[in-house]
Amino acid sequence: MSTFQAPKGTYDLTPPRSAKFLAVREAISAPLRDSGYGYIETPGFEDVNLFARGVGESTDIVSKEMYAFETRGGDKLALRPEGTASVLRAALEANLHKAGNLPVKLWYSGSYYRYERPQAGRYRHFSQVGAEAIGAEDPALDAELIILADQAYRSLGLTEFRILLNSLGDKECRPAYREVLQDFLRDLDLDEETRRRIEINPLRVLDDKRADVQKQLVGAPMLRDHLCDACKAYHEEVRVLLTAAGVVYEDDEKLVRGLDYYTRTTFEFVHDGLGSQSAVGGGGRYDGLSEMIGGPALPSVGWALGVDRTVLALEAEGIELPIPAATSVYAVPLGEEARRVLFGVVTQLRREGVAADFAFGGRGLKGAMKSANRSGARFTIVAGERDLAEGNVQLKDMESGEQEAVALADVTGTIRGKLSASDG
Ligand code: HAM
Repeated sequence: MSTFQAPKGTYDLTPPRSAKFLAVREAISAPLRDSGYGYIETPGFEDVNLFARGVGESTDIVSKEMYAFETRGGDKLALRPEGTASVLRAALEANLHKAGNLPVKLWYSGSYYRYERPQAGRYRHFSQVGAEAIGAEDPALDAELIILADQAYRSLGLTEFRILLNSLGDKECRPAYREVLQDFLRDLDLDEETRRRIEINPLRVLDDKRADVQKQLVGAPMLRDHLCDACKAYHEEVRVLLTAAGVVYEDDEKLVRGLDYYTRTTFEFVHDGLGSQSAVGGGGRYDGLSEMIGGPALPSVGWALGVDRTVLALEAEGIELPIPAATSVYAVPLGEEARRVLFGVVTQLRREGVAADFAFGGRGLKGAMKSANRSGARFTIVAGERDLAEGNVQLKDMESGEQEAVALADVTGTIRGKLSASDG
């Protein structure tokens, strides 16, 4: 081990487990790519005020967990704690919303940073794949996103997840509800911090997990009973479309997300095998965010799924993803001349599209064959001086154990033929 270790709350992705992360990113993004979402990449840091205004000054994410810093040049920046504000900022900056093709549908994949107390499933550096559909108010768009996340998880073989669904109302009905809720909460016996929260973000109090708080919340006014007619109808349409698509969800009137920009539809994907950090993904509608960051009115909806937690969910369900061996052919040279010849064969195989690797470092036959085994290669090519003198190499089928001499001049063609025969 070196003097240094990965910083607290972070971990490295190393083979073979890292292959699962690539497979999860691929599985989550595939349904999006097939549904008109274009890929977007934004910087790992932004103006700190983008998050303060967008995600919300009073949220834990901004007030406690943000990696905010001042540059040598005096700019106040923050490592991105989430993707939505950045993606909307970038879409506005590139005028994507003016191209006359709304909604603008975007997907992304990257690293995010939150200074949280680390525990299983909760890290300071984590990875999300997300999707944002910008500039359309249409319940079918909310439904589409939930359906695509469900499809992604099912394609991975996950079954022990649940979808929690709620509506947080809009600028018509939420302020009135907020006051009713505040009046109710102010009469309860709560600690100082929670009392402060009543004034800043009372809906979050409903989300308090402590039993003594939950006990007092029985009979609290619920937003569901205070939604305006437009929000009610919108929510009902989302539910109808999900049901028609065969997507099972649970109404969760206490679902309040940890970001301030949400309006109307909110949802979370939770996995029952993960203990306390059970949210594998979440999202919702954010009709006011564009205006909050200085843009025009652009009603939008999106989600982000946590890649780290999705991998943990796969492991909790004992799902082994079918990850094909990275190498099809492994070359083991015996002697200097064979090194040059087989290195040439490997180069040629690669150019012909066959995944091939080589026993580097001049090890003996035994060690090299061990590496060939470990590589998962279907075939091994072995050659020594005598084989070369006869114009041959030995081709070993690692599945059957059979070995045969193959003419050096035909070796790449022979291998390609055998590989495509065993594929079919
Ligand atoms: P979020 O719920 O804060 O939403 O994060 C989404 C997912 O990222 C979580 O469900 C979780 O799987 C993962 N995640 C969050 N924090 C951590 C952490 N500390 N360690 C490991 N995984 C974590 C958002 O970020 C919104 N931007 C989602 C969205 C997109 N809403 C609309 N569009």
